[in-house]
Amino acid sequence: MKIAVTRVDTPGTRPEDKNLGFGTVFTDHMFVMEYAVEKGWHDPRIEPFAEFALSPAAMVYHYGQAIFEGLKAYKTPDKKIQLFRPRDNFARLNQSARGLCIPEIDVDFVMDALKQLLKLEKDWIPETLGTSLYIRPFIIATDPFLGVRSSFTFKFFIILSSVGAYYAGGLAPVKIWVSRDHVRAVPGGVGEFKTAGNYAASLNAGEIAKKQGYAQVLWLDALERKYIEEVGAMNIFFLVGDELVTPNLTGSILPGITRFSVIDLAKKWGMQVSERKISIDEVFDAHAKGNLIEVFGSGTAAVISPVGEICYGEKKIHIGDTKPGKTAMKFYDALTSIQYGTAKDTENWIEKVD
Ligand code: PLP
Ligand code: COI
Repeated sequence: MKIAVTRVDTPGTRPEDKNLGFGTVFTDHMFVMEYAVEKGWHDPRIEPFAEFALSPAAMVYHYGQAIFEGLKAYKTPDKKIQLFRPRDNFARLNQSARGLCIPEIDVDFVMDALKQLLKLEKDWIPETLGTSLYIRPFIIATDPFLGVRSSFTFKFFIILSSVGAYYAGGLAPVKIWVSRDHVRAVPGGVGEFKTAGNYAASLNAGEIAKKQGYAQVLWLDALERKYIEEVGAMNIFFLVGDELVTPNLTGSILPGITRFSVIDLAKKWGMQVSERKISIDEVFDAHAKGNLIEVFGSGTAAVISPVGEICYGEKKIHIGDTKPGKTAMKFYDALTSIQYGTAKDTENWIEKVD
């Protein structure tokens, strides 16, 4: 399929790197294509980033048939563009598509489209460590229909956003709040897919956390409300003594690409790493015994985010001092130096764009 390109008349300008937050600055162009049962995915194009019209009856507005991905493009010191494990993101988009009855995309075709879009938007990719171009592919259901079924038509987009740190404090340890009363995802549900409804389901608890000064919610399993699952926008790791523990993938946790990368690096470095059940009580007990060395989150937006405080009911624990822990920083440095091209890509995670 040929990709038609329509350029903006007047390109915008990227803010200075130091003024970049997360998810507010959008580039000049986006990639779009449509799906219809009789045509498959069709009419791929790059066009100016702009509002678009949908029927108020479009199914995505009513029943949330929507999936998305998040990945980043980085500028290397020699001004080249590169991506971190992008095919894993598109493979996960297809897993989410299967979970939500959405037609899959052709990964090779979409990779080519993304590279073409990135070359056009290269001036929007910031250069300093901690900044990047966040890539948001997503698919929405567009049939104008109020009955409940899977849509017959869809739209696929890739939009781009120049970003800095996800958390306003950058690498400063974040505070997280454990909800006893809310659950994010249930076994047999859609927690392992990157679908809009999972995030909608997290908002109420997120607001309660925020009111008390916490950045995000740490979710427990829905059945026993005992075992740790993940944080709102990242997976979670605990360094308990010498063991690096992260919850195993139960079906209600997002299989994070950064999570897999941390596990791979930890194994390579000879660390004892376990994907297993870990209860909130075990974490608090380990802390009481002086055995909880570090806690950190992992994600594309969050990169590696040290956690400095966990609140669970009446109990609060503080982890480390107010600085990021040594292990979190070791993962942060190893990942970012591969992502920004300042270290050798020993794991074959990088895909070059130009
Ligand atoms: N968990 C949730 C709920 C997320 O939204 C994300 C972000 O994508 C992650 C975990 C981390 O996944 P990844 O490392 O693939 O970005
Ligand atoms: C990501 O890290 O890419 C995410 O999707 C997290 C979030 C912004 C929802």
